[in-house]
Amino acid sequence: MALVITVNGAQHTVRASPDTPLLYVLRNELHLQGPHFGCGLSQCGACAVLLGHRQIRSCVTPVAGVVGQSITTLEGLPGLYAYTQATHATAPALHPLQQAWIDEQVPQCGYCQNGMLIQAADLLMRNPHPTDTQIRQAMNGHLCRCGTYSAIIRAIKRAAATMA
Ligand code: FES
Ligand code: FES
Repeated sequence: MALVITVNGAQHTVRASPDTPLLYVLRNELHLQGPHFGCGLSQCGACAVLLGHRQIRSCVTPVAGVVGQSITTLEGLPGLYAYTQATHATAPALHPLQQAWIDEQVPQCGYCQNGMLIQAADLLMRNPHPTDTQIRQAMNGHLCRCGTYSAIIRAIKRAAATMA
């Protein structure tokens, strides 16, 4: 059936069964390759996207469940940042978190990093100045086999300082 979903500020009409995982629609229909398939069981976080300002796992979210709501993927983070900052007329090339990820050389294989960035964006919208403990608590549930956790904490703190 035809469903209209809003992703990164644009409406898209997609043809999918209502129970199709949102992840499949994002990757296969809209060709957004930020969210990754990892476990498919809401256990790893690789598929994370924002529903409004909150992180969800797109591998276990039926596409019909997000009709009428706003989805942001990794590709849409700069636009979301511009939208939430009154001083930004146009979207920057990178969200401050993405720039901080580069500056701190966070990614190794990169597979988990979509979910890490999405969860970090969720955190900084709720708590612009998180402590190390608050960062660890917020990022709990996102798994990185390469062990980039320390670099992620540094990058989130760097981005928070930039955004202050
Ligand atoms: S692929 Fe969705 S949480 Fe692992
Ligand atoms: S960077 Fe390789 S799994 Fe996290």
